[in-house]
Amino acid sequence: MLTNIKNLFFLFALSFLSACSILPSTHLENKSHKGLKDIISPDKVIGISVDYLELKNNKTYSNLVKNEFSSITPENAMKFETLHPTDTISDFRQADYLVSFAKNNNLTLRGHTPIWHRQLPLWLKSKQRTKDQTRAIFDKHVVELISRYKNSIFTWDVVNEAINSDGSFRTSYWLNSLGKDYIKDAFILAHYANPKAKLFYNDYDISKPGPKFDAVYKLAKNLLKIKIPIHGIGFQMHLRPEFMPKESEIREVFNKISELGLEIHITELDIAIPLPASTEDIRNQNLAYEMVSRICKSTMNCSTLNLWSLSDKTSWIPSHFKGLGQACVYDENLNKKSAYDFLSSGLIKE
Ligand code: XIL
Repeated sequence: MLTNIKNLFFLFALSFLSACSILPSTHLENKSHKGLKDIISPDKVIGISVDYLELKNNKTYSNLVKNEFSSITPENAMKFETLHPTDTISDFRQADYLVSFAKNNNLTLRGHTPIWHRQLPLWLKSKQRTKDQTRAIFDKHVVELISRYKNSIFTWDVVNEAINSDGSFRTSYWLNSLGKDYIKDAFILAHYANPKAKLFYNDYDISKPGPKFDAVYKLAKNLLKIKIPIHGIGFQMHLRPEFMPKESEIREVFNKISELGLEIHITELDIAIPLPASTEDIRNQNLAYEMVSRICKSTMNCSTLNLWSLSDKTSWIPSHFKGLGQACVYDENLNKKSAYDFLSSGLIKE
C-alpha cells in the first residue's frame, strides 16, 4: 500500500515536472512512434519548411525530414528571386531538387510562394515598365511555376502577405504596378495553370480577431462571391511575445474561416522566445506548441500543420527579430527539445 502511494506520488511529481518542462525532452521518446507523421490524425498533413542546402548536404537533417513529416515546403527555393536571378535567366534547379526529393521519399509538397512583396530581385523592381509589361512578367511567372509542377504540387500559397496590420492593402511592387486586382488575377492564373491544385491566401498575425484578420476574411469572402478559385487560408503563425493569441481567439478566427467553407492550413508555425530564454519562456513556448497542435487536431477544417524550419540552426527568427530565437522544436544540434514533446502531445490529445 505504502509503495503504491509512493509510486502515485512519483508519477504525480513526474507529470508536474514535465508540464513545467523541467524534464529533458526525452521523456516521451519511448512511445513507439517513428515521427510526427505517425501520430497526427491520418486525415491531416504535418509538414516542414526545408532549406535546400541542408536537405542536400546534411544527412541527419534529411533523415529527420523524411522520418518526421508528410510534407515539405521550400523555404526559399520557389521564391521569385531564386527562380529568376536575371531578367533573361530562369533557374529551377533548387525547386526541381526539392520536388524530386519529395517524390523519392513519399512526401507531398506545398508550393510557396508565387506572389509576395519580398525576395524580389533588383532587376524587377528597379526598371520602369508599363502596366502591360509588368503584367506579362506576372502572368508568365505564375503560370510557368505552377504548371511546371502540375503533376507534383497540389497546394499553393498563391498570394502571400498582401494585407497590412491595419487591414489596408500592402504597398508592394505588385500593388503599385498592377492595382489590387493582382490578388484575384493570381488565383485565376494559378487555377488555369493547375485546375487540380488547392489555392491559398497566406498571411501572418491573423490568428486572432482584429483589423488584419477582418481584412483577410473580407478578401476571402469577396473572392468567393465572385467565384475566384480560392480553397483556403494559410495562417503562418509566427508566434512571439508581442503576438501570442489565446486559445479562444485562435478558435474564433478558425471558426469564421470554416464558416466560409474554406480550409485552414497552419503554414509556418514557429514560436520565438526572448534570448537568453528563462525557464518560464520555455514553459510558455511549450504550452503554446501544445495549444496550437491541439486546436488544429480538434478543428475539422484545419487539415495541415506545417512548422517553419526544423531546427534553431536554420531558423529565420534570430536574423529577422532582434533578441528573439530558439523558436523551433529541434535545437541547433538537431536534438529534440521539450517543445517537440508538447507539440506531439497536442496532436494526440482528444
Ligand atoms: C523566410 C525564410 O525562412 C528566410 O530564410 C528568408 O531569408 C526570408 O523568408 N513569411 C513567409 C516566409 O511567407 O517565406 C518567410 O521565410 C518567413 C515569413
